[in-house]
Amino acid sequence: MLALKVHHIGYLVKKIDKAVRSFEHLGYRIVQETVYDDIRKVDICFLEKDGYCIELVSPVSEDSVVYGLLKRYKNSPYHICYETGDFEKDYQNLLSNGFIAIDEPTPAPALQDREVVFLTNPSMGMVELLISSRS
Ligand code: NI
Repeated sequence: MLALKVHHIGYLVKKIDKAVRSFEHLGYRIVQETVYDDIRKVDICFLEKDGYCIELVSPVSEDSVVYGLLKRYKNSPYHICYETGDFEKDYQNLLSNGFIAIDEPTPAPALQDREVVFLTNPSMGMVELLISSRS
């Protein structure tokens, strides 16, 4: 079994400012103001409530990696991100266990440029693997 820790739930939204206000209405507070990720062409911010961390992701242009997903799923959660202290080992483990990488490991500007990679699994959908801030 992998020693992964849930870091956040990724949530697609059409309009990030309006979404933030709605989440705040439910009692969430902003823990990371909106940051533009120019690799993925998305606006991202992080909110927290009761120990749960939600990442709001909103495509900024039609060539954003999540533009198609938003059109298909509308406003909805779409991935769970898992933090690992041994990124390379766990990444290889997932690749050997039916997970398919859908991008290359790249720094995430909204997460202090920590390395992340997205994978998909036919029985599970999309997951994000994030290098631990302590590793
Ligand atoms: Ni994420």
